[in-house]
Amino acid sequence: MNIGFISGTGNEGKALALRFGMNEHTILIGSRNKDKSDSTVVEIKSILNDINIHGFNYQDTAKNSDVIFLALPYTVVENTVLDLKEELKGKLVIDTSVPMIFQKGKFTRDPNIPSSVSENLSNILINSMIVSSFHTISHTDLNKIDHELDHDLLYFVNEENSESIFLELINTVKGLNPIKCGTLDLSLLIESQVPLLLNINKNYNKSTSLKIKGL
Ligand SMILES: NC(=O)c1ccc[n+]([C@@H]2O[C@H](COP(=O)([O-])OP(=O)(O)OC[C@H]3O[C@@H](n4cnc5c(N)ncnc54)[C@H](OP(=O)(O)O)[C@@H]3O)[C@@H](O)[C@H]2O)c1
Repeated sequence: MNIGFISGTGNEGKALALRFGMNEHTILIGSRNKDKSDSTVVEIKSILNDINIHGFNYQDTAKNSDVIFLALPYTVVENTVLDLKEELKGKLVIDTSVPMIFQKGKFTRDPNIPSSVSENLSNILINSMIVSSFHTISHTDLNKIDHELDHDLLYFVNEENSESIFLELINTVKGLNPIKCGTLDLSLLIESQVPLLLNINKNYNKSTSLKIKGL
C-alpha cells in the first residue's frame, strides 16, 4: 500500500512512517518544503536501509497515496486539508490531531475547540473516508523499532467501509490491538486523555499509553 504522511517530517509523522515502512509499504513523506522531506527520507533510510520511501510536497503526497496520515499541529490541520480536498477524494485519511496546549507547566485540551478535530475534518473532506486514531501512541514508542509494539489502538469512525480498510492496514503492523470506540464526534473524549498521559509522562519521565482492561 502507498502510505502518505502529512507531515512526514515531524515527530509523529516520521515515527509512523518508520513503523509502517518496516512492514513493506511504500512510504511517501510529505512536507511543505521538498528539501525537508528529502532530508527526512535520508534520515529514515539511515535507520531502515531497504525501505521504499520517497519525499514530496503535501499535494503530491496526497495524490500518490492510497492512505494518508495527518500528523499536523491542530491549529493548521483544517486549512491544510482544504487545499488537498481534491487529492484526498475517495481515500482513507487517518487523523492523529490532538488540540492540546501547554501552559503554566500543565498540558490541557484547548477549550476553544468545542468539537473533535476529526469530526470537523469529516465536514470538510466530505468525499474522503476519515478515521480518528493513534492519539495515544507516542512517537517515542513507534521509534523503538527493535521492540514490537504492545499497544491498544483506540479508533473512531463513522462508516463500515472506512473501518474495514483501516483494519486491513493496521493488521500489517504487529502489536497494534485496534479497539473501536464509536463515531468521530466521540474522539473528543480521547483528545482529552492525551494531555492526561503527557502530564503523567512529565511527572515520571516516561512514555505512557492507554490499555483497556476487560475486553
Ligand atoms: N508526537 C507524538 O508522540 C504524537 C502522538 C500522537 C498524536 N500526535 C499529534 O500529531 C500532530 C503532530 O505532532 P508532532 O509531535 O509530530 O509535531 P511536530 O514534531 O511539531 O511536527 C509537526 C509537523 O507539521 C508540519 N507543519 C505544517 N504547518 C506547520 C506550522 N504552521 N507550524 C509547525 N509545523 C507545521 C511540519 O512539517 P513540514 O514543515 O515538513 O510541513 C512539522 O514537521 C499533533 O496534532 C499531535 O497532537 C503526536
